[in-house]
Amino acid sequence: MTGRVKIAVVGCGSVSQRGILPHLSQPDIRDKVELTAVVDIVEERAKACKKRFGAREYYTDYDEMLRKADVDAVVIATPIPLHFEQAIKAIEAGKHVHLNKTMTTTLQEANKLIEARDRAGVKVVASPGTIFYPSTRRIRELLSQGYVGKPYWLCYGATWVGHEYEEFRQADDVVRGVDPTWYYKAGGGPMYDIAVYNLHTVTAIMGPAKRVVGFSGVGLKERVFKVAGEVKHVSVEMDDNTLLLLDWGDSVFGFVFGAFSIGAGGPSFFLSGSEGSISMRWHRSGRVVEVFSRRLKEWRKTELLPLKLPYVSGVHENIEEKHVYADIMHLVDCILNDREPVVNAEHARHVVEIIEKGYISAKTGEAQALETTFDPESQFSRLKEILASG
Ligand SMILES: NC(=O)c1ccc[n+]([C@@H]2O[C@H](COP(=O)([O-])OP(=O)(O)OC[C@H]3O[C@@H](n4cnc5c(N)ncnc54)[C@H](O)[C@@H]3O)[C@@H](O)[C@H]2O)c1
Repeated sequence: MTGRVKIAVVGCGSVSQRGILPHLSQPDIRDKVELTAVVDIVEERAKACKKRFGAREYYTDYDEMLRKADVDAVVIATPIPLHFEQAIKAIEAGKHVHLNKTMTTTLQEANKLIEARDRAGVKVVASPGTIFYPSTRRIRELLSQGYVGKPYWLCYGATWVGHEYEEFRQADDVVRGVDPTWYYKAGGGPMYDIAVYNLHTVTAIMGPAKRVVGFSGVGLKERVFKVAGEVKHVSVEMDDNTLLLLDWGDSVFGFVFGAFSIGAGGPSFFLSGSEGSISMRWHRSGRVVEVFSRRLKEWRKTELLPLKLPYVSGVHENIEEKHVYADIMHLVDCILNDREPVVNAEHARHVVEIIEKGYISAKTGEAQALETTFDPESQFSRLKEILASG
């Protein structure tokens, strides 16, 4: 395709107002992107976002936007349970699609979405593109270079106190005071919300898993918070505390967790093997990767990797949610240069299956076989081409 990619952003809540719209309205990308429409069921919010971020139009009805707006691509930033239906409608209308995490909530939906994409011949990018993170690429490289030897087990997970604590949502007005209740209802919860990052990362490093066992439940049964100045009592219907055991076969295991509880600076990644181990922890200027290995002369090596993402430079380095922006610009790149996305729906489907079957295992007490797969080798080699082309 030539010219600018005309984009509609659907859902003008937290991630859109803090990240997506500030990024997409920057002058430096005007040769590639036009912010054509914003959509939100809350009219005041949609209208305010159109004005503040310079979109051409606003809509309160998604179907009307698909019928009337002249757009090439749709960025879906609505609550997770809405992703599937909205993505299918966009694909069937011939639009390219970027989905925020998590792509869908069930394997069946993920399969249908991939079939619809292939029928329509459009591009789909499904966040989170954790393969773009330098630390993910580095850990995979260290593993393939033999620093760990035979992998034994890994541990990674996410904790976050809950979306009612986002500073953004504390405002008393309806534009910024966005209700986070959906995070505590079906299709919300910390697995689809945050552990999805960890699952994308560990599967990018280790490849597709073969089996999952889950333990899951609700910690806090009720949450009380203010929405646009009004106090709300929300009963928690979605598990907010989940641990998964993963089996990659050949005696390689993993432990991934997601909880709406308080962590301490973000949990670390740890991978242990016959020759060494690799850890990765967050640092304000990037990620610290530490290797202990018999293959190293000094036994221990520490690297600080800045969070340098493809497509992100200049002003975008200092706007929130730059990883979401990187994924959206990856879609733009794929549309303009006819590339196959590396942050793709097949990888996202495997993660969706792990989460869904983890919940089934927690209910039944039985390990669940995983049937989907994806090809990280080809993702990483195509990513090298993208990085080389600048
Ligand atoms: N909040 C974060 O920190 C964050 C970060 C990265 C990605 N995400 C992802 O972004 C997506 C949105 O999350 P959020 O936290 O911004 O949610 P949010 O609740 O803050 O915003 C969702 C918005 O969607 C609107 N909406 C609801 N139903 C709609 C419909 N049918 N049509 C159009 N608009 C509708 C709501 O009015 C609201 O403004 C989710 O997929 C989430 O996983 C969130």
